[in-house]
Formats: sequence, structure tokens, C-alpha cells
Amino acid sequence: MKNKLTLILLLAAFCVVKAQQHQEYITPADPAVQQKLGQWQDLKFGLFMHWGPYSEWGVVESWSICPEDEGWTQRKGPYSADYNTYVKAYENLQTTFNPTHFDPDKWVKAAKDAGMKYVVFTTKHHDGFCMFDTKQTDYKVTSPKTPFSTNAKSNVANEVFSAFRKENFMIGAYFSKPDWHSPYYWWPYFPPKDRNVNYDPAKYPERWQQFKDYTYNQLQELMTGYGKIDILWMDGGWVRPLKKEDSVLAHEMGSKFNQDIDMPKIAKMARANQPGLIMVDRAVPGAYENYTTPEQQIPAAPIDHPWETCMTMGNSWSYVPGDNYKSSQQIVQLLVKIVSRGGNLLMNIGPGPDGDWDPEAYKRLADIGKWIKINGEGIYASKAIAPYSDGNIFFTQTANGNNEYAFLLGGDKGLALPGVVSIKTGNVKKAKQLTLLGVKQKLKWKQVADVINVTIPAGLQSNSGLQYAAAFKIVY
Ligand code: GLC
Repeated sequence: MKNKLTLILLLAAFCVVKAQQHQEYITPADPAVQQKLGQWQDLKFGLFMHWGPYSEWGVVESWSICPEDEGWTQRKGPYSADYNTYVKAYENLQTTFNPTHFDPDKWVKAAKDAGMKYVVFTTKHHDGFCMFDTKQTDYKVTSPKTPFSTNAKSNVANEVFSAFRKENFMIGAYFSKPDWHSPYYWWPYFPPKDRNVNYDPAKYPERWQQFKDYTYNQLQELMTGYGKIDILWMDGGWVRPLKKEDSVLAHEMGSKFNQDIDMPKIAKMARANQPGLIMVDRAVPGAYENYTTPEQQIPAAPIDHPWETCMTMGNSWSYVPGDNYKSSQQIVQLLVKIVSRGGNLLMNIGPGPDGDWDPEAYKRLADIGKWIKINGEGIYASKAIAPYSDGNIFFTQTANGNNEYAFLLGGDKGLALPGVVSIKTGNVKKAKQLTLLGVKQKLKWKQVADVINVTIPAGLQSNSGLQYAAAFKIVY
């Protein structure tokens, strides 16, 4: 009897896994979307920004008003003892938000110099505060309640998009589907219980319809009034149709309710206004998740569809004073690893309440820029190639397969080249030429089957002038 039960449970678990696997990546049918996705994949390196009045307190974006007891939802500070008092004070941050040093051109310059090619900006995070001039609520940066509304650059999202677009960045609008300020999502009649809608949409369809309209209207504003948008990056994967086969997944995200906001209708409107728009209905596998978004991690192996790792440059998505920024070497090596597995890196910097970044972020970008100027040819528009990596060497190749790049990563003490670098390319094709990017000196090398041994002269070993990761370019 017990065995039978175990068997049934195992079978059930197997079916769930299968069902989840079944929700595989769906290649978008629209050729314009496919084309833009291809272009986006070539960009490799983007800038993410999480910004809102929460930066005034230097706390986590939105999550401290979510009544869940998780590590990242903990409330701190003078109002934290009482939930309702806290939310009031949090929402009141709107009345002091005045980032007068906001100068998106400065960000563009630094990001461009670092080799970033696209930007994704939080138009609205889960807390519902709009960093754009929506007509649907006055919980927004352009409301008279917000001191910054009198500033010429108060329509922040528009300013960010215009500034980056001028320098040919692809433009991405982050938009949270859940909205913890909207009375149509967290109905004030009930207390919120968790991140989800706090009433059953099936029981109160009219209220849910109001939420759908609210969402649709905001997205319509973004898709019509903010110039050319390339990516609509929608967060809050628990807002989704609750289907039988993904009920387990939805349950894991704490959702008991069907939170269908009619994505087909949204997509139709969005793409009518923004032909070829890449839609990222994050963590909702299907037609509207045109690329997947592993968060704060590098997938262990290449993924056979478009993907992007989003990661914080510090520890937090939001601005935290004195946050601990990753080293330039770490960031460069993350980029190399991600690109070698066929992905993009979307690196986040959280602007502070004054409207600028931590000086550390600028330093990192300047370092990365120096590296990318030498090594970018092995990064941009490159493709993954087996074996992807061998020890601390990571591979990429040009689209035509003629050039391969072997990136040797520096260690804890920085980059020192050994006397012989042994590159196991896994490729027995005869190499015609080998150079070390950023180094003029000709190097001796010898290929035996699929291994190329490169001799590094003593003078170069600790004195190559190279940093973080050295790229050997192999021409076939
Ligand atoms: C995490 C955070 C969320 C943030 C997102 C960005 O899910 O909880 O606040 O927007 O990462 O990828």
C-alpha cells in the first residue's frame, strides 16, 4: 500500500516536471520580432536601472511593503514596528522625491564608454510608483505632490529613453504587472496578505477588469508616448493565467488566483505601436516570453534560446548607500562567461535619491570600457561554440565561424600569463593565425590536433598590460 502511494506520488511529481518542461520556449512567429531579437542578442551588454522614491531610504525596491516574511521584505527604520504606519511613510516618500542631479546624458556617456548597448529602466516597480507621466494615477513622479514634478526633466522615463536612444541604445521599459498601490490590485477593503492580488478575481470580475484596464492603459501610454521602444520587460510572473499544468509553479509563487491580464490583447496593442517589439513576460513561458531572464546567476550550460542574465553591480537592485560593488574583474569575467554560453548580461545600477550613481559605479564602467575596447571584437555579435569553456578559458566565435576567441581569465591576484597557454579548442580545423588582443608582439604557437599551445615570452607574462581576461584570437 505504502509502495503504491510512493509510486503514485513519484508519477505525479514526474508529470509536473514534464508539464513544466513542456512549457518550452516558443519562437515568436512575427519575423520583425525575430529580427529584433537577433539584433538584441548581438548587443551582449546592457544597463538595468531600478529607481524610485525608495532610493531616499536606501531600502529594497518595493518589497518592504509586501506582507510576506522573507529575507528581502524585512522593514527597517523608525516606522517599521507597525505595517500600516510603514506603508504610509513609504508612500509618502513621493512628497520628498527630488533628484535634482538627474542627468541621463552623464549615464549614457559612462554606459556607452563601458560598451553597453541597451538599457532597461523601471517605469513602474511593484510598489506602483510611476517614473513616467501616466494619466491613470497621481502616484507618479510628475504629480504636483512630488517636488521633482516642477523640474524640466520630471518625466524621468522619457528623459532616460530619449538620452539613450540618441546614442543608439536599444530601449527597454521595465514594467511591473503587480501594482501594490492600485486599489484594483490591493483592494483597500481587504488587507494585503502577500504579493498577490488580495481578492479573488473570479469572485470580483468587475474589480479585476478595472485592474486590467489600468494596466492596459498604462502600457498603452508607454507604447505610444515615449518614442521607439524595443523591449517591454514585464516583471511579476505571478500575475498570469492560472492554468492546470502550471498550477504547481504558480502555487510556488504563492498564487491561488487566476491573474489573467489578457496578454494577447496587450501584445497586439504594443506591437501595433512598436513593430517588432521584444516582449519579456518574465517567468511566464509562452508566446510572450521572447527571452528568458536568469536572475543573479549564470546558467551552468548554454541555453538553446535567447536569454539574458540580469545581475546587480552592487548587492542590491535599488540604491543602497555604501553598497558593495563587484570588482571590475568580476564584472568582465561575468560578461565573458555569459557570452560564451550565448547569453546577454544586463547589469544593474541603482541611482540614488540625488539623481546620480555611486562614484564606484562610474569607476567600474571606466575599467570595463578599457577592457572592452581591446576585447570587444570577441564579445559583440559572437556566438557560443562548444566546448564553451575549458578550465579558466572561455570560448566565443564570430558568426561565420572563421575566428574563435579564447578568453583566459585572471585569478584572485589579477591576470598573469603562464609560460605556455594551452588552449583546447575542441576544433581540429587547422588554425592559420593566432594573436593576443591588445598585444603587438608576435607569439609562437603550435597546434596539435585540437590543442594550441602558445608560448608567452617572459617579458609578457606579468607585464602584458592586459587585465581581467586575455583574449587569444584564432583565425581559421
Ligand atoms: C528580483 C527582485 C525585484 C527586481 C528583479 C529584477 O526579482 O525581487 O525587485 O525587480 O529581481 O530582476
